[in-house]
Amino acid sequence: MQNADYDEIINNAPCEGRERQLYFIDKCHDIIKERELIKGEKLTFHVATFGCQMNARDSEKLAGILLKAGYVFEEDEKKADIVVYNTCTVRDNANQRLYGRLGTLCGIKKKQKDKLIALCGCMMQEPLVLDKIKKSYSSTDICFGTHNVYKFAELLYRRLAADGQTMITEILDEAAEIVEELPVKRNYFFKSGVNIMYGCNNFCSYCIVPYVRGRERSRSSEEILCEIRNLASDGVKEIMLLGQNVNSYGNGLKGEISFPELLRKAEEIEGIKRIRFMTSHPKDLSDELICTIRDSKKICRHIHLPLQSGSTRILDKMNRRYTKESYLALADKIRREIPDIAITTDIIVGFPGETKEDVDDTIDVINKVCFDGAFTFIYSKRTGTPAAAMDNQVPEDEVKLQFDRVLEAVKETSKKMALKVEGQVQEVLVEDINRQDKSLVTGRLSNNLLVHFPGDEALIGNIVEVRLTECMGFYYLGEQV
Ligand code: SAH
Ligand code: SF4
Ligand code: F3S
Repeated sequence: MQNADYDEIINNAPCEGRERQLYFIDKCHDIIKERELIKGEKLTFHVATFGCQMNARDSEKLAGILLKAGYVFEEDEKKADIVVYNTCTVRDNANQRLYGRLGTLCGIKKKQKDKLIALCGCMMQEPLVLDKIKKSYSSTDICFGTHNVYKFAELLYRRLAADGQTMITEILDEAAEIVEELPVKRNYFFKSGVNIMYGCNNFCSYCIVPYVRGRERSRSSEEILCEIRNLASDGVKEIMLLGQNVNSYGNGLKGEISFPELLRKAEEIEGIKRIRFMTSHPKDLSDELICTIRDSKKICRHIHLPLQSGSTRILDKMNRRYTKESYLALADKIRREIPDIAITTDIIVGFPGETKEDVDDTIDVINKVCFDGAFTFIYSKRTGTPAAAMDNQVPEDEVKLQFDRVLEAVKETSKKMALKVEGQVQEVLVEDINRQDKSLVTGRLSNNLLVHFPGDEALIGNIVEVRLTECMGFYYLGEQV
């Protein structure tokens, strides 16, 4: 493109916000149409998500922008004209997977010169990562971070309009603005994540999230409820309210309602049948929240309550701000008030200085709470976090030994809990055709257990009654009644 044209287009853009991004989506669209004519077919995109539900939701926004700009979805990232990797850096294995995939993609790009590669998400917020991308994966076209996802169209336009290979990078240290109501392409027509807050203020000593996602910021309840109403009128039945610590929702927003109040307001919205949320920090979980779940017809019987460790000594070093005893008391209160609720958790094994006795404490909590499920992670050293500087890192083989003990304990309790509902008839939201056996569909119980039963595509998105005939450990086989 002529430089004068380019300057004019940039200069004529609205100053900020939604209008500016819609303007750039339009400008991308013009270029993509031109290229489509030359190619003789539609240009295609692929967005791959690493990491958590927050990233999954951001990816839906990125896909929405790409569709609006004129691309169509391509299942195979090797063939797509633009590939976006939305990255995660919570543990090192997430980073290694990214480098592996990116290496392959850069190799393909040597033959498909017009292919574009965009990287975004949590990894990009780390200066060392960006240096490595520039040095070792220099055919990457666009890099941006977690604070400017909404600006994707603007960055894409700059890359599309540029002559030759220039890497466009824009990484912000903190969020400048929250831009609402840009296009979104949901992965499921019947369920959706809804961000209620961004960032995290907790600074658990092992965790990189506060550094790459910035300070905690709640969205206004009005905007959240408006989004949920729109989703409901669009046919969405299940929503998942998303935040790193939903229990502190509204802190720092003058006159804003609390999380339990937000849940009660969401519950009033017609069309919404199920409400989930993620994640609850144990230190901030109120009695009001427990009562709200107990008294609700729509809030699902599932709470994810990350334990991390059962040893008070380690919890203190992790800066989690609760003890083994207070966690047990909280779990006990939840089980007492809501007997049919499933409690799941996250556990880290191998935090610096962790001994076999500390792990005994963790296993003791697993057995006492009788977790319905748990994600167990091997501690991963994250540059810049306080725990990375601790000098008593645990040797790998010792961690592996303790990890297996924890895994075994979790397997036992989750099997025991799953068995409790065998033979019952429960409501299931059907999500998908079963991947292995196409004559089955897969759905989720309110308590988050998966069940597979005979059915076809027409059932997807419906809530149906299913008899849970056979417990297979962590999931069920069933039949519709
Ligand atoms: N905000 C949520 C967790 C977000 S990260 C919460 O506080 O519960 C998801 C999980 O990744 C954490 O619960 C923790 O178990 C795990 N995790 C975070 N940092 C880690 C690290 N450095 N090594 C291993 N696991 C980690
Ligand atoms: Fe990380 Fe702790 Fe924040 Fe969760 S609460 S994101 S573990 S710092
Ligand atoms: Fe990963 Fe970022 Fe989520 S580091 S776990 S994608 S907040």
